[in-house]
Amino acid sequence: MSSLLQSPEWQSLNALMLSDGTRHLRDLFAEQTERFNAFSRCEMDILFDFSRQRVTHPVLAGLLKLAEARGLRAKINAMFNGEIINTTEQRAVLHTALRASSDRNITVNGRNVTHEVQANLQRMQGFVEDVHSGRKRGSNGKVFTDIVNIGIGGSDLGVVMVTEALARYRQPSIKLHCVSNIDGSQLADVLEKVDAASTLFVVCSKTFSTLETLSNARIARQWLVDRLGSEAVSGHFVAVSTNDKAMDAFQIAPESRFTLWDWVGGRYSLWSAIGLSVALTIGTANFRLLLNGARIMDEHFLSAPFENNYPVLMGMLGIWNRNFLGLDSLCVLPYDQRLHRFPAYLQQLDMESNGKRVTHSGEPVECDTGAVLWGEPGSNAQHSFFQLLHQGTARAALDFIAPVNASSDYQGQQNLALANCLGQAQAFALGYNEQEVQEELQSRGMDTATIARLKQHKLHPGNRPSSILLFPHLDPVTLGKLIAMYEHKVFVQSVIWDINAFDQWGVELGKKVADSLVSAVEKPETGPVNLQGFLSHISKWRK
Ligand code: F6P
Repeated sequence: MSSLLQSPEWQSLNALMLSDGTRHLRDLFAEQTERFNAFSRCEMDILFDFSRQRVTHPVLAGLLKLAEARGLRAKINAMFNGEIINTTEQRAVLHTALRASSDRNITVNGRNVTHEVQANLQRMQGFVEDVHSGRKRGSNGKVFTDIVNIGIGGSDLGVVMVTEALARYRQPSIKLHCVSNIDGSQLADVLEKVDAASTLFVVCSKTFSTLETLSNARIARQWLVDRLGSEAVSGHFVAVSTNDKAMDAFQIAPESRFTLWDWVGGRYSLWSAIGLSVALTIGTANFRLLLNGARIMDEHFLSAPFENNYPVLMGMLGIWNRNFLGLDSLCVLPYDQRLHRFPAYLQQLDMESNGKRVTHSGEPVECDTGAVLWGEPGSNAQHSFFQLLHQGTARAALDFIAPVNASSDYQGQQNLALANCLGQAQAFALGYNEQEVQEELQSRGMDTATIARLKQHKLHPGNRPSSILLFPHLDPVTLGKLIAMYEHKVFVQSVIWDINAFDQWGVELGKKVADSLVSAVEKPETGPVNLQGFLSHISKWRK
């Protein structure tokens, strides 16, 4: 691909950075009374208000031109058509096929994958209905009341995030517990709570080789055997994986296996059978609504012109913030407690995808790539880290996310949340200038000396860019749209940077080093000489 930084589109954005990019949002709002109309879109029942992003008409036009020049339209089509765009693993990238309508013909290596996807969905549905109706029961005839999902990363975060977000849609008869962490305490806490006879374990691992998942699953199996005998394992364990051999070794019964495909990346796998625990928790009808929501966003991404295309706009605004305004983090702030794991979910999606330092052809990237993504429910964040965002020296771009209608019975509380969401976005954008501080302190009767002493401390520079995503309800369809919007935004940015958003070689080194040290932690005296100082403390303190 030709040089990004030398391209005329990048150069003209550079020039705009020196003019429009230095403008304060307060001035832009004062000059452009129609700023909301110009810099917001409302489609698919989601208001995308980016009027508080530090852009002008020329900047937005320049960003969209850059997207065109980088061949984004063709790249989007290539992804949806199943071309091999994950070049380092020689794989197609087709999580969109998992939610495509059943009449779409999507082929990979000559095979129509839509049929396979639909057949799997159908099987999942049958399984879920069997569990819910009590046709499928535990080994001694008890109905299943508890599901334990064992998985990590993409085999956990989506399950946790979606079932928390859609807690109001949960089946009352089923309790979901998720275990990901390797240290044992999460698993211990869950096993303490559940009755083996009515517990179904869902082991999710695309590769079925992940240490955290397999070691937790082994302990869970032994726990079950100790209580119900080894013949109970086949009825109480199901698995989702591409790796049949490893499932054989784990003695997962053939009828208890669900599959996915190598063209589904772990962090994009929620829509596949990795979502089995989601479907068990909220029912297949709601799971299908989630898929429908994602499909609505997919079709929009495929067909909407760039100036109205949500993922394209979001991705390109992110490029402006990251590469031109130099903001190296994106803080995601849901104003709905039900979305409390959404930032964590997006962390894997965004940072595992775009945390790359070389282009597709292996050359060093020319500019910064993926930003650090972090966040918390907005209310809590206001009382913890917002001080730094308002007045600290570090700067972040912000995404506010909020439903208009409460995800609880307390609409009055949600109104307060909305007022805070909007109020914070306003404060971040406009700040609080010297004149306002002066007037406030004078009106409180302060003398000149006190005002002079306090003034600098009370100033808020503002000009912190943010977007707001506002929608009527947090329901399965809306959640599907939101997730797919962020998925495609990540893809848009990867196209601009010419990086592979679908591999994750960086995680491998840490895994390899950790594996090589397991025996050293168990028997410190056998560990490498240069680690003896550290390992000796393990020997000293282990009971
Ligand atoms: O952390 C690396 C990773 O490979 C993720 O990409 C993936 O979601 C996670 O581990 C779990 O992998 P698996 O589903 O194969 O157990």
